Formats: sequence, C-alpha cells, structure tokens
Amino acid sequence: MKTTIVDKKITESGMEVIVVGVPEHPENKEGWEILEDVFGGRLMDWVKAGDVKTDLKSITKLPVMGEASFKRVVFAGLGAPKKLTDQLLLEVFAKVGKELKGQKAENISIWLDSFTTESLEADDAAFAAAQGILLGSYQFDDYKTSSNEKDFAFETVELVSSADEDELKAAAEVGAVHAEAVNSARTLVNTPPNILTAVKMAEHAEKLAAQYDFELEVLGKQEMEELGMGAILAVNKGSVEEPRLIVLKYAGGREDWTDVVGLVGKGITYDTGGYSLKPREGMVGMKGDMGGAAAVFGAMQIIGELRPAKNVIAVIASTDNMVSGDAFKPDDVITSLSGKTIEVLNTDAEGRLVLADAVTYAKQSGADCLIDVATLTGGVIVALGKDKTGALTNDEAFFEDFMQATLETGEFVWRLPLTENDKKRLRKSEVADLNNSPGRDGHMIFGGGFVGEFAGETPWIHLDIAGTSEADAAHDLGPKGATGVMARTLATFVERLAEEAEGTEDGPQVG
Ligand code: BES
Ligand code: ZN
Ligand code: ZN
Repeated sequence: MKTTIVDKKITESGMEVIVVGVPEHPENKEGWEILEDVFGGRLMDWVKAGDVKTDLKSITKLPVMGEASFKRVVFAGLGAPKKLTDQLLLEVFAKVGKELKGQKAENISIWLDSFTTESLEADDAAFAAAQGILLGSYQFDDYKTSSNEKDFAFETVELVSSADEDELKAAAEVGAVHAEAVNSARTLVNTPPNILTAVKMAEHAEKLAAQYDFELEVLGKQEMEELGMGAILAVNKGSVEEPRLIVLKYAGGREDWTDVVGLVGKGITYDTGGYSLKPREGMVGMKGDMGGAAAVFGAMQIIGELRPAKNVIAVIASTDNMVSGDAFKPDDVITSLSGKTIEVLNTDAEGRLVLADAVTYAKQSGADCLIDVATLTGGVIVALGKDKTGALTNDEAFFEDFMQATLETGEFVWRLPLTENDKKRLRKSEVADLNNSPGRDGHMIFGGGFVGEFAGETPWIHLDIAGTSEADAAHDLGPKGATGVMARTLATFVERLAEEAEGTEDGPQVG
C-alpha cells in the first residue's frame, strides 16, 4: 500500500473512490459545501432524509452521476463529534476498509480533514485511517482455491489534508505497520496445524530476524535435552514433530544488554489435551493455541519496523500436544529447566509447562521484566467473556504502566487476583514442588499463577488471551477468526518504555 499525502480539494481527486466522514450535523463542518456541487446541491437534503447516514460506523455509498474525476463516494458516519475517540475512529476506518475491499477499490482518496474533531487531529486520523482500513479489509483465504478476493490489496491511498505532510506521513506509516503486524499474527493463528508446525514457527522467526536484523536462536530437541528443559520436552513427548524454543533478540537499548524486556509466547501448534483428552467439540479450533506466540511475533514485527530504544527478548515455546505410546501422562513427574519439579495432574494443562521453561530461559538470557502471553485457560472465558484479556501480575507499578498501553490501543485487559492461598495450592503435591492443575475453581488464576512461580521476583505480567485471540463472528476490527490481539499493545508498551528511558539521565546508551 502506497500512502501519499496531498493538500488539494477532495473533489479534485483522481482516484476511483473518495472517502468522506459525515458527522451528525455536517452543515457545521467547514468545507463540506464543495461536495454539494458533485451531487447537484442535494447532498444536505439526503443527509436530512437519512439517505446519507451519519450514525457512528454507518456506511453510505453513492455513485457520482455528473462530472467528476472519481466514480463513487463512500460516506462514513461519525455520529456526535464530541463522543468520537481514537478507538472509535479506528473502528470507523475498519468498516471503511471492509467496504472498500468489497468494492475492490484499490485506489482511494480519503478526505482526512472530514474526520477531524476538536480533540482528534489530522495525524490521529491518519494513524487510524491507515491502520483501520488494513485491519478491516483482512481476510484469510489462503486455502480456498476458488476465492476471488485473494488478490485484493490497496494500491494507492491518498490522504487529503492541509495539515503538515511529514507528520501525517509518519502517523500513517506507524498505523500501517501496526495493522500489518496484527494481520501477520492473524494469519499465523488461522493457518491449519498440519501446515504450521513448531519448525514452521521457527522459520517465521528466521524471516523476521533476517528482515529486522534480530539475533536469532533456535533450540531443537537435542539442545533442550542438553539444557534440561524437561517441561517443554514432556509436552512434546507424544509428538512426531520436533519442538522448538525460538529466541529473538532486539538490541535497541543499552549496549551492555541490560534493562531488557522479555516477551514470552505460548506456541502450542495443536492442543489435543494429550491423555487428558479434550472432548471432540472442545478440540476443534485448537490450532489457535499458538495465539500468544503470534502476538509476540506481531509485536516483534512492529518493534523491528519502528526500532524503539529498548532491549527486547522474545521467547516462544512451540510444540503440539499429542497422544501416543510415548506421550507424557497424568502422574508423571518432570524436572523443569529451573530445577523445580512438577507433578502432572492434567496433560491438558500443557501451556503453563512450556511457558515455565520459556520464562526461565528468558530470565537466564537477561530479561529484567517479563510479559507472557498465552491462550492458557477456558477459565478466563468463563470469568470475563470473549472480549477481555485476563491478567495477573506480581508488580503493581509495572502493571499500571502496561495498562496505559492498553488504553492507547483499546485492547481491553482486566486483572484477576493471585493470592498466597492460590500459590499454596499450586505448591501442593505429595511428590514434587508444584502440581500443574490444582482444580477447576478459578483455574485461570492457577494457570497464570503457575507461570508466575517461574518468574519469581522478576516483575511479571501474565496475559490470558484464550477468549480474545479469536472471534466467533465478524467484529469491529476484522472478520471472524484470529484477532491478532495484544501484538499492538505489547509493541506500544515497549515504545512507551523506550520513550521513558530516553527522557531520563540513565536512558539508553546507543551509538
Ligand atoms: N489451550 C487450552 C485453553 C483454551 C481453551 C484455549 C479454550 C482457547 C479456548 C489449554 O491448554 C487448556 O486446555 N486448559 C485447560 C486447563 C485445565 C486442564 C486446568 C482448560 O482451560 O480447561
Ligand atoms: Zn490444553
Ligand atoms: Zn493449550
């Protein structure tokens, strides 16, 4: 997608489609009159009659009948300008993106200044426009032989505005970078499990490393055995596919590799439950059990593009969880990389096991704080529904900072408690240091809390995206299926940490 910024009259656009934002009372909006000529002075009457809709997120498409350099106008309803937020504007543009894709309109012109309000400036609109149309037009049809929308991509997007060209260009670029990374995360999650194996996950990391100059480390079964990663190895035991522990390092901050943010992702490419087998209805969809890994890869893609002044290490633990004569089983006791022993009570609680070794490895590799992301428990869906990510933490201040990033991206996160009593239950076992499944009551807390045992004193946030990683139906920002949730928030958080560090004396010592 090529984005250009132009300062001209929207009616002089040479693109096939122009996009215009319509607030509740467009007559109050400066410059609106110039559109009247295109529609023979009848536009305002149509708005009054409801033929051009102004409700938030509504779309009205009108062909141009008289003389004009473009074929169609797409009107995007903005509702009451005072109530319009960044998040809502993003959703408006996602609707526009979906509509334009439906029209196969590859060359478009967006009248950016028609989307501004007292609190939303042209650069906010540019960010939302680029991001929204890319998120809203996403579709996964890689394996449909008869899809006719396969080849759709925006060619030229012209943003028409009188605001500063460089600022708008930068804002639009950041918006596009965010959306493209979310869409890559979506595609990873949507890809079928016979194709996306742990080895393929590592190949994705290789591509990112080559493109963005990350340091890459990929551990296979043998290296895991040598290091004593008994937890991820136990989960992999029943599989014919090799496991992978994938590490990406981005050195944007201090040169001595201190002050490192660790992002850890659950990359279970398929979760049958193992011997604690899932019921047949519960198994379908478990190709998405690598949503946490996809979010971390997505965040790394954004970080690679925008290059914040911060050190970041990403660790992905990837394998499938299968049944076979070799598979691990309930009652097994395994020794994790940390040395802690674990009594397996439920082989379907595999995510926390692979995360245990990944978190330990991240710490050993220098992470000073940790965020793990995982489709970890059905319990989080029971607790919060499908539209909220559940969180746990051991550090209030760290969590507060993180919440600021979620407010910026609009990705809803809600924290659950983790008490000493919960920890006691995790540590209750006749035969080992920990057990992997203390019970079904409040089991989101036990899932994340188990991972916290390996984070120890290191500031840590756990994000359970079992509900939010995939949508059951089309939603404001995209179609049914993978959402790419948390990729934007993780990257935004790292960007803000970098800005904070730069603003202080002991900021990064780059170059
Ligand atoms: N991958 C699942 C969690 C999950 C459930 C993700 C629904 C997406 C949608 C996880 O490995 C799992 O099976 N968790 C169990 C834990 C239980 C055995 C303690 C669960 O949530 O039932
Ligand atoms: Zn499971
Ligand atoms: Zn799982």
